[in-house]
Amino acid sequence: MLIQASLVPLLLSASALALPTHQDVDFDDCDQDWSDEVSPAPSGQAFGAQPSGHAFGSQPFGVQPSSAGAAPVQVQPSSVAPVNIQPSTSTSTSTSTSSSSTQSAVAAPTTAAAATVQHEASTTTSSNTQASTDLCGDYDYIILEDTPWIVYNMLYNADEIVGSQCTNYGEVTATSNGTQEVVWSSVTDIEYVESTNNVPKGYSFVGLTENLETRLSAIDSIPAEYVWSRTNTTAFKGNICFDFMTNDIKGDSTSTSSHELMLWLQYEGGQLPIGWTNGVVDTIDDLFGTSWKLYQEANADTGITVSSLLPETQFEGTFDGDLKEWLEALVKVGIFDADTYVNVGNAGTEFFYGNAVMNSTLGLQINLS
Ligand SMILES: *[C@@H]1O[C@H](CO)[C@@H](O)[C@H](O)[C@H]1NC(C)=O
Ligand SMILES: *[C@@H]1O[C@H](CO)[C@@H](O)[C@H](O)[C@H]1NC(C)=O
Ligand SMILES: *[C@@H]1O[C@H](CO)[C@@H](O)[C@H](O)[C@H]1NC(C)=O
Repeated sequence: MLIQASLVPLLLSASALALPTHQDVDFDDCDQDWSDEVSPAPSGQAFGAQPSGHAFGSQPFGVQPSSAGAAPVQVQPSSVAPVNIQPSTSTSTSTSTSSSSTQSAVAAPTTAAAATVQHEASTTTSSNTQASTDLCGDYDYIILEDTPWIVYNMLYNADEIVGSQCTNYGEVTATSNGTQEVVWSSVTDIEYVESTNNVPKGYSFVGLTENLETRLSAIDSIPAEYVWSRTNTTAFKGNICFDFMTNDIKGDSTSTSSHELMLWLQYEGGQLPIGWTNGVVDTIDDLFGTSWKLYQEANADTGITVSSLLPETQFEGTFDGDLKEWLEALVKVGIFDADTYVNVGNAGTEFFYGNAVMNSTLGLQINLS
């Protein structure tokens, strides 16, 4: 067995994973074009309730599509996938499938307490030429050896999925300058169900496993190149994002002192960030070629504040930038200081419903000073 459970203490923080599985949501459909800005839902839709504890309570909100900002809308506490990995040192070249219990934890919907999740089956293959693999189980992942990555199909609201969702690992390639990239995809086939259309079903992502738990001030750069294309055959709701977590405590991504940071590159189907109802908290100009609106609110299930940046102009399939600039911009607006620890970092896609295939090539790493 290549990767022993004991070598892979996945610490999935309850934190941002804490997503309600029981929401009283009620609105009709979501079939319009959400192209360039965050627009609320189509006219007449009643955006429903958030879990108890959320500031916006349970009243339905009527929203006009053309009057963005005029009406509060539903908020999805976007996912997080905090992952702490001890890289395996195994050099086995065999292929194996492990069925093991990990320390994956997802916050229980009503208690915010971390619930241990039994890891069903994680397909792992070996060494330099790990075979491509489809990860379709609720918490399936593959750790890519000799890379800084884990590829994860994190279905934290699997109970709400009618259909299927897979995260597929293709291959690791190297660019001409030697930078590693991972080819992967997210295949969503989730039925629109009115009562859960407002519930994010999970997060498909490539997470960092190296050079985390480092002070921001000790990081030289976080080069990221995220290239994607999504083709949907039915209305799709979801996004493309980066998701990082910081805390002044090294390695802590579960305490309420943690910060969850999201950088949304693209979103459609009416997805909105947590804190939307509070309005724009701040504006960050001239970051990655556009201006960004900051939305902020504590995830009621975890107490962890989520700070989401949404671009003035969405990215249409390509992002290239040094994510340290993003974190430094958040230092400037006072969310944390430069000595805080970067404990979690990943790139992925959140999904609510739809039949869609998202193919991606990603380069992402943390370079220490
Ligand atoms: C290496 O190439 C990739 C893709 O061509 C580019 O995004 C990255 O900035 C380059 N890195 C360096 C260190 O030149
Ligand atoms: C995704 O990749 C698969 C296999 O490489 C290909 O068949 C499919 O057309 C691609 N889809 C998109 C949306 O690029
Ligand atoms: C893809 O999803 C978007 C957003 O939900 C929707 O506007 C569009 O109509 C969908 N495309 C198809 C072919 O269903």
